[in-house]
Amino acid sequence: MSEWVTEKMAGHCGARLSGVSLLTATHSDLEQMRSALFEHGVIVMPDQNLTPADHIKLAEFFGNIDVNRFFTPVSNYPVIAEVRTSADQSAVIGGTWHTDHSYDEAPAMCSILSARQLPPYGGDTHFASMATAYRAMSPGLQKILSNLRAWHSDGSFLDSNVGLQKNPDAFRDPVLHPVIIKHPVTGSPCVYVNGDFTTHFENWSIEESAALLEYIYRFTTQPIFTVRVVWEPGMVAIWDNRLVQHYATADYSGHPRLMHRITVEGVPL
Ligand SMILES: [Fe+2]
Repeated sequence: MSEWVTEKMAGHCGARLSGVSLLTATHSDLEQMRSALFEHGVIVMPDQNLTPADHIKLAEFFGNIDVNRFFTPVSNYPVIAEVRTSADQSAVIGGTWHTDHSYDEAPAMCSILSARQLPPYGGDTHFASMATAYRAMSPGLQKILSNLRAWHSDGSFLDSNVGLQKNPDAFRDPVLHPVIIKHPVTGSPCVYVNGDFTTHFENWSIEESAALLEYIYRFTTQPIFTVRVVWEPGMVAIWDNRLVQHYATADYSGHPRLMHRITVEGVPL
């Protein structure tokens, strides 16, 4: 019986798991995969070639599926979101550093992305470790941020121009999360504010919050905290949205790209 071969991809997050097909994986293989996710923040598994039904089965190992309110669903599979870039599009979905679903009361724990159609070059996804970024801050800043909460809003979807659904019923009231969360499984402190959805600190104005938030975004996304995932046909990537932020690279204009994404339910932070 084969077992996962795990190779770290960078110093602070990212691991490549190979040697096991998810279609025939045992429960113990899947548990090992989940442990690797919590240890490395993001895991990639090459040569999986999942069908939509396989993709759903994989997601259900982690928990209930959290259907995104803004993405276009894959036809016949309403729980799978389509992450599509057409050849004539220059902006892409997720082309700035962000955390999926942070605008929810109980934000999605992980996102599972399956490569369906890749451009001939580019379209890599970058991930940054929010646990390492926290540890790299001074004790003074750690202490200040640990006493703050911040508002998160889905309002940035209002003026998005990347082919998402314009569904006025999808919007919800903003929610508060701690700026430094304790990871629900490992207990490690992680920075939890992001440029797409965080609007301001609790009891601070938007203007007052802007400079400190800007500093945190710049600090947490330094290259030393990141890993770059270069997609391969049939590859699946899973990331824990509490441990990492991610960034989709819009550098393949003129070529289409299609990914399928499932997000799994999380817990209040
Ligand atoms: Fe995303």
